Amino acid sequence: MKLRHIISARQFDKKTLEQIFNLTDKIKSQKYNNNHLSGKIMATLFYEPSTRTRLSFESAMLRLGGKVITTENAAEFSSAAKGETLEDTIRVVNSYCDVIVIRHFNEGASEVASRYSKVPVINAGDGKGEHPTQAILDLYTIFSRFNRADFTIAMVGDLKNGRTIHSLCPLLAHYPKVKIIFISPKALAAPKSLKEYLKQRRVHFEETENFKKVELADVIYQTRIQKERFKNTRDYQKYFGKYIIDGSILKYLRSKAVIMHPLPRVNEITQEVDSDRRAIYFEEAANGLYTRMAILAYLFDKS
Ligand code: CP
Repeated sequence: MKLRHIISARQFDKKTLEQIFNLTDKIKSQKYNNNHLSGKIMATLFYEPSTRTRLSFESAMLRLGGKVITTENAAEFSSAAKGETLEDTIRVVNSYCDVIVIRHFNEGASEVASRYSKVPVINAGDGKGEHPTQAILDLYTIFSRFNRADFTIAMVGDLKNGRTIHSLCPLLAHYPKVKIIFISPKALAAPKSLKEYLKQRRVHFEETENFKKVELADVIYQTRIQKERFKNTRDYQKYFGKYIIDGSILKYLRSKAVIMHPLPRVNEITQEVDSDRRAIYFEEAANGLYTRMAILAYLFDKS
């Protein structure tokens, strides 16, 4: 069934994913009508900072012929600062636009928004919950390098709080030959509910603290320790810098491996890695534009 809102990666079946990937290919090769969304308006409501998600969504809408309305730092400059509830904000904003893209610090906020919205809502990150459109662009990027779905992916870093991990895993679960190696400190391990989900779908995964396991991976998906989710700085400092991809780690990686990162990075990939041909995180970020154009085109497609 066609999706109305995009809240969780778990909503996507393989057919819908592949439809979006095919559309992305067409958009990238400019075989797509760029005025497809002429007359449509997107509202972006970002209660947390963003560079890539917000600007790529806004650019995607403009490139498809649509328009964008926004509030600068919604937590501070929307009427949320006066105490307005998210529900009321959505009830109002949905009458000004045709689609709402929302990032919020609370897990579940996008799902709440979708219940109060008459127009499609897209989750652009809900606290430590999910970031489904990031997962779509990540998987698209992986498939652009591996013409087969039988790769091993090492997910590294803050797997507890990293919402991109929470969304990428359910998408990978559609591909039975994919193997996942979770690499994190025990305290930042992937959530139990996610591991249960993967077990139910018979996804092959293992957990380790040993960074050297990246040598077994075709895809190294590095993540930032999510400072904003820590209650005290001392805990954060304990893990900050635990897993760093630098020149010395490059030596262990497979020659055809790729290094990905949803970005922003802090210190977990050093700049010397950027010029290595296996580093594809900027290509990954660039694909955010095309996949989000495809996601918008999909949502508004009447066929
Ligand atoms: N990957 C990602 O979500 O980046 P931003 O926080 O800059 O949007």
